[in-house]
Amino acid sequence: MSSNLESDTISLDTSFEATIQIQGRTYQQLAVERGTSYGPVDEYERDRQEAQHEIFKLVFDGRLIFPPVHNPRKILDCGSGSASWATEVAVIGIDITPHTMPDDPPPNLILQVDDLNEPFTFQTNEFDFVHSRNVVTGINKGRWPSYVKDCARVLKPGGWLQMVEIYHNVQSDNGTMTDEHAVRETSTKFLSSVENSKDLRAPLALESFMRGAGMVDVAGRMIPLPLNGWSINPKEREIGEKLNDSYKSAMSGHMLIPFTEKLHMTHDQFNDLMQRASEEIDNLSLKPYVGLYVCIGRKAN
Ligand SMILES: C[S@@+](CC[C@H](N)C(=O)[O-])C[C@H]1O[C@@H](n2cnc3c(N)ncnc32)[C@H](O)[C@@H]1O
Repeated sequence: MSSNLESDTISLDTSFEATIQIQGRTYQQLAVERGTSYGPVDEYERDRQEAQHEIFKLVFDGRLIFPPVHNPRKILDCGSGSASWATEVAVIGIDITPHTMPDDPPPNLILQVDDLNEPFTFQTNEFDFVHSRNVVTGINKGRWPSYVKDCARVLKPGGWLQMVEIYHNVQSDNGTMTDEHAVRETSTKFLSSVENSKDLRAPLALESFMRGAGMVDVAGRMIPLPLNGWSINPKEREIGEKLNDSYKSAMSGHMLIPFTEKLHMTHDQFNDLMQRASEEIDNLSLKPYVGLYVCIGRKAN
């Protein structure tokens, strides 16, 4: 990663640009071949990330930055994707794929293509605030402690780190989901399909990663995200109704390669499982939800 972003513009290594098509979805060839990320990089995924950003704003009552950060001058967004969050706060954004980046970013937003699994080369004490959201499927298993340490290292003393991750293990709010349910099967298979390379349980350990990185004032919480409109709470119902399509799209888009290439499912078997799991995610009486893990921590002065 370059540390002279403002002054240096390096033309994009063409290996980052190549894509492959699978079942009508577009994936970044390099990320798939390296096993970095199995998420699609097409227009559909960019739209999904933008829609999900609006849902997160609803969840967090419009707040983009949770800790008490005053007039941050330099902000880093790790895994910026469609840059929906980054565009609103004006930052430096890093992502492995150029494909979902906005075509016309605002001038105060610098987007760079790089792999967060590599050690950061930004200078120590460079940023006032570092943000990392929904990168769990792209951070390598053993990388999490050093990833969080890298985020802490590049923060100025007193600067804050904010991490937000979904634990992709669909639960039922009334305990009616069993191992026979397709949606439970997708969650279990997703965890096992990438268990050698990714730690999908990392969202549960954000607080311990931050403490391990020497951060102070660490505070975490879990927010249940309903996956359809089952909740009687109006705000939760709206979140569930809006998240329903987005979650089903993320599920099929991100599970396609792990399930067909690692678990050797045929495309017909995969499509059948996704169809059954989607119907269950639509089922109000199943009360499906996933846990959203939010954690903040401050670099000691
Ligand atoms: C689900 S999207 C989330 C985008 C954005 N953070 C948000 O919350 O709207 C995950 C993004 O992280 C990127 N990503 C995953 N693994 C990465 C890695 N190792 N290095 C850089 N970017 C990565 C993906 O390319 C994708 O754009």
